Amino acid sequence: MKKLVIASILTATLTAGAALAASHGADPVATRKNGMQGVGLAMGTLAGMAKGEVPFNDKSALAALKLMNYVASTFDQHFPEGSDMAANTTASPKIWEDMDGFKAAVAKLQMDTAAAIEAAPASAEALGPILGSVGGNCKSCHEAFRVKN
Ligand code: HEC
Repeated sequence: MKKLVIASILTATLTAGAALAASHGADPVATRKNGMQGVGLAMGTLAGMAKGEVPFNDKSALAALKLMNYVASTFDQHFPEGSDMAANTTASPKIWEDMDGFKAAVAKLQMDTAAAIEAAPASAEALGPILGSVGGNCKSCHEAFRVKN
């Protein structure tokens, strides 16, 4: 029973994350931040399962990976020229100086999440290597293309 409750809370969280991630508003800064919020939720879900803090659930794990893959599939479209000047953004001007490098980093997140979806993790143990490969993208892209606010 407890496991079921946790699994449905996770599913609800991920659904909210997907809705956030899919909210293509007119505001590109809000859209890309919402997408990253969804990515953060998804990583938190996977890390919780890997650590055994929440029970492993294959459907929630797959949903988390698909959410990240979905965000990655459009993320670089939300960086129009000048949107590094928005008050509430932590996007670094380096994105616009090296748009090709930034797009490559987005494509890498997309590829690594696609590979993880393909692998269809069936246990908490199987999430370890996935967290390593997918999670490596967060740090490297944030270091290169994000500023601290
Ligand atoms: C290809 C580059 C890239 C990758 C990969 C990436 N991020 Fe981000 N992330 C960004 C940028 C750029 C921002 C700043 C967006 C803004 O403020 O306009 C950001 C912001 C965020 C935020 C803050 C959102 C907000 O509301 O301000 C979170 C949380 C986040 N990322 C989590 C993650 C996690 C977790 C991963 C790894 C699974 C990840 N990101 C991978 C580029 C990336």
